[in-house]
Amino acid sequence: QQGERTRLVEAHKVAARYYAEQLDGPEAEPARRFLGERGFDQEAARHFGIGYAPAGWDHLVRYLRGQGFTDRELTASGLAQEARNGRPIDRFRGRLMWPIRDITGDVVGFGARKLREDDQGPKYLNTPETPIYRKSQVLYGIDLAKREIAKENRAVVVEGYTDVMACHLAGIRTAIATCGTAFGGEHVKILRRVLMDNSQSEVVFTFDGDAAGQKAALRAFEDDQKFAARTWIAITPGGMDPCDLRLAQGDAAVAEVVEGRTPLFDFAMRSIVDRHNLDTAGGRSAALEEAAPVVAQIKDGALQHESAVRLAGLLGIVDEQFVVRRVAQLARWA
Ligand code: CTP
Ligand code: MN
Ligand code: MN
Ligand code: MN
Ligand code: MN
Repeated sequence: QQGERTRLVEAHKVAARYYAEQLDGPEAEPARRFLGERGFDQEAARHFGIGYAPAGWDHLVRYLRGQGFTDRELTASGLAQEARNGRPIDRFRGRLMWPIRDITGDVVGFGARKLREDDQGPKYLNTPETPIYRKSQVLYGIDLAKREIAKENRAVVVEGYTDVMACHLAGIRTAIATCGTAFGGEHVKILRRVLMDNSQSEVVFTFDGDAAGQKAALRAFEDDQKFAARTWIAITPGGMDPCDLRLAQGDAAVAEVVEGRTPLFDFAMRSIVDRHNLDTAGGRSAALEEAAPVVAQIKDGALQHESAVRLAGLLGIVDEQFVVRRVAQLARWA
């Protein structure tokens, strides 16, 4: 109900302020060093509201109780979890904290990174599903990026928190991230409301340049068709992510990678084509049989036709009508 939401949002607002204050303390030295080594200065940390969750069991729990929050509210918010004895303890301990805001700017959750390889738990710990935090709807950075996304009619989707920061600092203020989940239909809905959502809209996936990033980009292609937007991919060189790239080569290099984007459709087709020898008729035919069903999934008739022609070009098939017919045939049976 409305009352509970308000309380949980309020708890997050207070927690974000608490964590941010802790970043200045002596215990947070490793957290500040981490930020520095990633190329983020104090001003950047402040801009993104970065904080530090102290080690220990119940620093935040005690602080929030002091601010009038009940134990039930603390566990419902995800900021605390129940220990075995049923008492609430801090969920985030000894970690660097990214407040995650919704599109209106309300803090609804946190992403929390461990600071040493041998610390307990996964590298990133995130807020669990709560009444105010649904991970399928999270686009980290959307509150900061929405204006620029609307203005440029373009969104740049990256993988992680540090990538969003690096992009914004490099002047790409349309950057947002899904943060650990696949880009899906809920994300599309949110973006559609921000983009002008016309044939000029662009979504540029700028994922990590490793195998996982490329795979994620291919999966994003499944959502390609849900966009009126044109969908692109930009892959960072050498297995780096945008944050690594900014550190290694500076702001301009990040902007160059985004500008050097290719259509996601071509990328998806090329990943199929690359596995076949197009110098032989057999190879071309095998590649066609793999790629045509993908094209056949495209619902929009005009786009499907245009894509089939493009596929013919990629495959080096001179008779493009042959490809168009094959795709149409598969689409009828789909
Ligand atoms: N992620 C997560 N849980 C993990 C690993 C990753 O939620 N165990 C999310 C985080 O939002 C992370 C993003 O997926 O930012 C991308 O993952 P990865 O590339 O592994 O992390 P980086 O952000 O590059 O982190 P770092 O550079 O600090 O290793
Ligand atoms: Mn804001
Ligand atoms: Mn990665
Ligand atoms: Mn990284
Ligand atoms: Mn990464």
